[in-house]
Amino acid sequence: MTSFSWKPKMSVGVPLIDEQHKKFFEMLNSLESHEGDVKPILDSLVQYMQFHFQTEEDFMKDRFFGEYPEHLAEHKCFSERVKNMMRDYRAGRNVKLEDIRGFMVEWLSVHIMSCDQKYARFIAKSKAALNQPPSQA
Ligand SMILES: [Fe+2]
Repeated sequence: MTSFSWKPKMSVGVPLIDEQHKKFFEMLNSLESHEGDVKPILDSLVQYMQFHFQTEEDFMKDRFFGEYPEHLAEHKCFSERVKNMMRDYRAGRNVKLEDIRGFMVEWLSVHIMSCDQKYARFIAKSKAALNQPPSQA
């Protein structure tokens, strides 16, 4: 497995959410070097995933982001896939730890660079609009 880290181009311009994305990658990387029982790490990964998604969802809702329903659906779909993979892994059903980790790293990277960047642009535009001088109309 190869380690993966957060990159500045992934920033959504919200320090709290950037920090959570970094932490998510750190946790995924810790699966790589961990020896012994990985169950506690998997449990904390699922908990952290839910906590992080809730943070983003509250953030988008509070700011009336129009594409919130689509974003929420992405989170739900991913959460279901992860939970199913973990259930199969624990039951010894043809799912390897690398599969779970690889899937999560890949999904998270693509999601941050596509879906999360949409609300990042929305927030940046809102901030820019707030800084505009009032019109002279
Ligand atoms: Fe997201």
